[in-house]
Amino acid sequence: MTTTVLVAGATGDLGQRIVRELLDLDTRLRVLTRPGSSAAADLFGGEERIEVVTAAYTSSRELVEAVAGVDVVVSAVSGTRPVIVDAQRALLAAAVQAGVPRFIPSDYSSDYRSIARGSNRNFELRREFAADVDAADIRATSILGGAFADMLTGEAPVILFDRHRVLYWSSPDQVLDFTTKDDVARVTALVAVDEGAPRVVEIAGDRVTARDLAASMTEITGTPFKLQWSGTTGTLAAMSKVARRFSKSDDTFPAWQGMQYLVSMYSGQAQLRHVDNARFGDDHVWTTTRDVLAEYLSR
Ligand SMILES: NC(=O)c1ccc[n+]([C@@H]2O[C@H](COP(=O)([O-])OP(=O)(O)OC[C@H]3O[C@@H](n4cnc5c(N)ncnc54)[C@H](OP(=O)(O)O)[C@@H]3O)[C@@H](O)[C@H]2O)c1
Repeated sequence: MTTTVLVAGATGDLGQRIVRELLDLDTRLRVLTRPGSSAAADLFGGEERIEVVTAAYTSSRELVEAVAGVDVVVSAVSGTRPVIVDAQRALLAAAVQAGVPRFIPSDYSSDYRSIARGSNRNFELRREFAADVDAADIRATSILGGAFADMLTGEAPVILFDRHRVLYWSSPDQVLDFTTKDDVARVTALVAVDEGAPRVVEIAGDRVTARDLAASMTEITGTPFKLQWSGTTGTLAAMSKVARRFSKSDDTFPAWQGMQYLVSMYSGQAQLRHVDNARFGDDHVWTTTRDVLAEYLSR
């Protein structure tokens, strides 16, 4: 049976990948975008299975009209409180009002459910919204895959490529969960068409320690990569607090938030405990951190 899926945030990095994966399945797509942006029309205008609909997140009427008749709403929006809590609340309320059966919030992260209060701004916004999702009259699935593995070659300051070091905080043996953006997008599309998906789906393209990352880098480059202790997760959390105090902007990913992400991962607080990759096919080859690093270094 053809599933009609509405994707919010489809013009974003992950959103575009989710749309691509959904087009490989038996789906019809509606892409929700905000007024004033031509990005969605430019990206998807030529695709006959995609309808671009425009609605302001401040207009309940426009949102209800936009989501009416779909089987599932997939959110891939990105931002801080005005987006993750406020805009998604409006989208969720519209989905409930329109009688949409299922909702996928824009989580795509480590397990934010039991991290310490005040330890990770972005995770706590997800947890706050998850309480709304839980209380809403709709079936929902959150997709948790750890950090995007792609970030190891850029945004995540864990591997120092020039200095042949892999940083760790507290323990080099803490397990860290990583999944590539493409694998997250594939799973999201499969969950979107799966009426029986549970409330939380945990996946991990790879589960490695800092010690494993150093071994991979040594093997790929033929140059020894050493582990470097950078302090405890407690000192990193304290540094993040100081950096936050001096930060004026409301960016989604400021440096202090990156530090909070590392604290959540290296403390083990956000580690995935119910990974079920098998749900998405035994034959799928997940992209590992080693694959990501080898591909990056071969460029
Ligand atoms: N696990 C990880 O390591 C990791 C890393 C990065 C991101 N993520 C998560 O993945 C998800 C998608 O991130 P992304 O990097 O793909 O995001 P992105 O490229 O920044 O795009 C997200 C989309 O959100 C929409 N958006 C932006 N501002 C908005 C606003 N004020 N109100 C409503 N919609 C707005 C935009 O779509 P329109 O303009 O079409 O409305 C935009 O294209 C987010 O939940 C993000 O936190 C996870």
